[in-house]
Amino acid sequence: MSNLIESLNWRYACKKFDSEKKLSEQDVNTLLETMRLTASSYGMQPWSFVRVTNPELRAKILEHSWNQKQVVDASDLFILCAKTNIDEAMVDAYIDDIVKTRKVAKETLEGFKKMMMYTIAWDDARKATWAEKQIYIAMGTLLTACATLKIDSCPMEGFVPAKVDEVLGLRDMGLRSVLMCPVGYRAADDNYAELEKVRFESSQVIKTLS
Ligand SMILES: Cc1cc2nc3c(=O)[nH]c(=O)nc-3n(C[C@H](O)[C@H](O)[C@H](O)COP(=O)(O)O)c2cc1C
Repeated sequence: MSNLIESLNWRYACKKFDSEKKLSEQDVNTLLETMRLTASSYGMQPWSFVRVTNPELRAKILEHSWNQKQVVDASDLFILCAKTNIDEAMVDAYIDDIVKTRKVAKETLEGFKKMMMYTIAWDDARKATWAEKQIYIAMGTLLTACATLKIDSCPMEGFVPAKVDEVLGLRDMGLRSVLMCPVGYRAADDNYAELEKVRFESSQVIKTLS
């Protein structure tokens, strides 16, 4: 079995973290970097990733997370957020970044901007859904990165986003929470670690049309 598949079998949604075991700053930064490098539609990156280290804030988040203790016990807690303003200013900031990074003339990107403006023209609900889809891709990247580094994680949508936004003051940052991911190391007595992984057979979910 390849190392990657072995790692993905090793990972599970950790229910109980060892609160004494901390990630190194280097590992935390690597994980944050994997999210930053995630692919997104047009490369627009309608997101921010918030690391919460303040224990009081994490205790408040717990109150709005159905008491899922991973939120306070894990070494680190990441909140994967979508930008609230999916607008022309956001597109322009991205265009400016391309110009700066690739040293190309802005005029060469006019057609590209036009395409992105189709997305910007959608109604708010559709744009919100579009942004959320990008956040889920970042979560996938993060989970795989954690697995390959043998770091435990728990993808979470079991929380009340509006309340978490309030606790963290996310709206003032132009953000709203979409997903959370506590990361760290599993507790020795987390029984979920020993459970057999439940996945449909590949013949049921993988189809080859030849
Ligand atoms: C988007 C998403 C949200 C999830 N939310 C929670 C959650 O709030 N709490 C939790 O304990 N597990 C959560 N899970 C974990 C799933 O229950 C878990 O991934 C699934 O049962 C498969 O098990 P495995 O990941 O351990 O292989 C979530 C998973 C995903 C992908």
